Amino acid sequence: MPLNPIRAAALLAACLLATGCVLPPKPYKKPAAQRPVETGPFWWGTSTASFQNEDRGVPADSPWAFKTDWDLFAEEGHIPPRGDDATFSWTHFEKDLAALKKIGVNHYRFGIEWARVEPKPGVYNEAAIARYVEMAKKLRAAGIEPVVTLWHFTFPSWLYDSRKKSRSNFLHPDAPVRWKEYVGRMVRALGPHVDVWVPQNEPNGDLYISYFGGHWPPGLLLTPGALKKATKVSVEMFREASRTIRGKDPGALVMGIYSLPNWQRSHLQDPTAFVYNMMQRQNYDHLDQSADAMDLIGVNYYYSQVASARRFIVRPDGEQSSNYTQNGWLIDPEGLHSVLRTVSKRYGKPIVISENGIGTQSEKKKIRYFREHIAQMRRAMADGVDIRGYFPWTLIDNYEWAEGYAANFGLTHVDRKKMELVLEPSGQWFRNFIRANPEP
Ligand code: BGC
Repeated sequence: MPLNPIRAAALLAACLLATGCVLPPKPYKKPAAQRPVETGPFWWGTSTASFQNEDRGVPADSPWAFKTDWDLFAEEGHIPPRGDDATFSWTHFEKDLAALKKIGVNHYRFGIEWARVEPKPGVYNEAAIARYVEMAKKLRAAGIEPVVTLWHFTFPSWLYDSRKKSRSNFLHPDAPVRWKEYVGRMVRALGPHVDVWVPQNEPNGDLYISYFGGHWPPGLLLTPGALKKATKVSVEMFREASRTIRGKDPGALVMGIYSLPNWQRSHLQDPTAFVYNMMQRQNYDHLDQSADAMDLIGVNYYYSQVASARRFIVRPDGEQSSNYTQNGWLIDPEGLHSVLRTVSKRYGKPIVISENGIGTQSEKKKIRYFREHIAQMRRAMADGVDIRGYFPWTLIDNYEWAEGYAANFGLTHVDRKKMELVLEPSGQWFRNFIRANPEP
């Protein structure tokens, strides 16, 4: 049957829909000149995130009580609640500091909880800000350089509207202007004690999971328009933060941190490369638009994954096989080498491995994971990749987002009675390793 133009157009539209018409990211055009980036001795660090670690520390009837979008999303029943305690890193920061000293890291990344410092729009909690300043000062006094994350997935509850999810978080009309004010205040307060700033942690992964995958707040499912819009806003917010930080202190370093799994192409499971291309775009679209506004690229690497629709629906069952983590992620140290080479070639910037880790109940497996990934980092360095630091995720077993408390990534765990952190064998291993290898 000959194709009439209407049928042909419908067929073409169906084809485009089926393949998603998702093209791979375009090659990145590096700017002619890059700022020289001095980082001194190799950064052996570790990290936490405000919402994963801080206890609430404020009574519910206090004028300074606050909630995040994640609290509300949990109240709606979509994810397990975090509870009020987490790892007590707000009221008992001293125990975290003591463990950091014991391990011997020279850098530590922690986050600011935006909702805590601005519990109502335009109302700032100066005592909370002062406490964050105190933390940075104490770290420095202990010879540990603070690295401060301004946004690690959570928004103040007043930017989240459960009845209007398409106007929540990055899509809330007030988000950019409130962000500008928040960042300005944090940079003014912490600037004298902090030289390394992370405006956003893994915006790329968060955007796909929250505005397309539906798993994280605001929970928008299969909404490419929202994803596109939220990405644009997030990029603008990143660039705004970078301008503020550099404007205040031209010597400060801005690090953009991205979730960069090693996506594997399967011709059988994804013949049109629809999923593969989409995942490449997830890795690089945001970074392509922000790279010139950062000094360092933070690579968060955990696993390899076959890019296929099936793989997103049927997840391998946790740690059943020795090659998978508690979260069902495929362990692939060589994948780190491949990601490092790709990022280095694409952007030509110094890299920090800002997160690398495994949720597992076996400390033996955790140590093997770190050892094998550090070996791949060394291999990449020998290939000429400019790597400035390595941060195992994470200092303490903590709240693992939509998984609740079901994953043990920590180098330590909290002893709630003694209110101290107990070094796991992996924490002891890391301590001995960095002591023996000040440079990798
Ligand atoms: C995030 C952490 C998270 C870790 C393990 C990264 O995506 O930055 O907050 O806990 O991966 O899933």
